[in-house]
Amino acid sequence: MKEDLVLPTPREAAAGASGEPLLVAEGLTKHFPVKGGFPVRRTVGQVQAVDGIDLTVHVGESFGLVGESGCGKSTTGRLITRLLEPTGGTISYRGRDITRASRRQLAPIRSEIQMIFQDPYSSLNPRQTVGKIISGPMEINGIDPAGGREKRVRELLEIVGLNPEHFNRFPHEFSGGQRQRIGVARALALEPKLIVADEPVSALDVSIQAQVVNLLQKVQEELGIAFLFIAHDLAVVRHFSQRVAVMYLGKVIEVGDRDSIYTRPRHPYTHALLSAVPEVNVTGGDESGRERIRLAGDVPSPINPPSGCRFRTRCWKAQDKCAAEEPPLVRLSGNRDGHLTACHFPEEPTIEAREQDIVLDPALAALEETDED
Ligand SMILES: Nc1ncnc2c1ncn2[C@@H]1O[C@H](COP(=O)(O)OP(=O)(O)OP(=O)(O)O)[C@@H](O)[C@H]1O
Ligand code: SF4
Ligand SMILES: [Mg+2]
Repeated sequence: MKEDLVLPTPREAAAGASGEPLLVAEGLTKHFPVKGGFPVRRTVGQVQAVDGIDLTVHVGESFGLVGESGCGKSTTGRLITRLLEPTGGTISYRGRDITRASRRQLAPIRSEIQMIFQDPYSSLNPRQTVGKIISGPMEINGIDPAGGREKRVRELLEIVGLNPEHFNRFPHEFSGGQRQRIGVARALALEPKLIVADEPVSALDVSIQAQVVNLLQKVQEELGIAFLFIAHDLAVVRHFSQRVAVMYLGKVIEVGDRDSIYTRPRHPYTHALLSAVPEVNVTGGDESGRERIRLAGDVPSPINPPSGCRFRTRCWKAQDKCAAEEPPLVRLSGNRDGHLTACHFPEEPTIEAREQDIVLDPALAALEETDED
């Protein structure tokens, strides 16, 4: 598949300083009220979907956000794109506090932050042509690119690896992978600086996932667009993201640069996630010697999360202190700058052991094969 990117315009962003913060979230919180009671419905509790998280996405970087179903990843993505109002905390974009910005104040920023959704089937209007879908955001924002919108749509189709002549076709005429490419083209139409990609490949066939991840990676690197890449396991993110945060029940429990997280995870949950990466028997050999951690029990309810460390009900190392005190997210001795862990009794940093533990899932294996082409 041809995936060479044709750069539409020289992008300043591509040259953006790597350490410059683009989006900073501090103490970000979203609680959803739970209604109950009869005949009068009232608030009987709160779903603590996101509970005081700090995140920084730098200009042009790919930041991965990982965790099991229900831990608050999509809610975080929707808070950052301002599709949801936070209950608490602040979000600043390029140094400007946008937490309480009105629709009007947000207008110029909205075009710079775009979202790609998990399900390419439901996120495209079936009654609109691809041309209309991709040019829609330009119309809404009153953007008239040089040469006209149709020319720009053709350029965008080419960038995402689709035939530019197909702008008059409808979504049902495309495969799942192609539809996700249309979603990418739509997100690129406004030349965003940040794309929040919420599990953008998990609805696709494994064989197609690698192609779409490769496309996103090219977009990120060549157009200098920052990504918040949301995924439920660590496999795809490992390939795509320079930094990774692991979430559990509304909290960030570990964050750091990719190598640090994959080779020296300190939080027991990160260990468990890494060892749960579905294995593919690449060598055909025996996999003994690799310890697999199985998490006991279910994720507790975010309505009434465990006291202290939220992971304690499933943690094999839990002690009294874990129930009494919430572990702060801090740098542990032996860890690099920027690698933070929230655990009272962290794992040892064991590089050698971890290298053995990292197994490729089929999508990642396919990805690494295509890289060698
Ligand atoms: N609008 C809402 N009203 C009430 N509860 C909600 C709402 N949206 C999300 N939640 C709850 O908040 C928690 C976090 O949901 P969220 O969708 O952010 O998780 P997620 O990590 O994206 O999960 P998944 O991997 O399944 O997509 C869940 O318990 C969910 O049921
Ligand atoms: S703080 Fe305690 S319960 Fe939580 S992860 Fe660490 S050891 Fe386990
Ligand atoms: Mg989600």
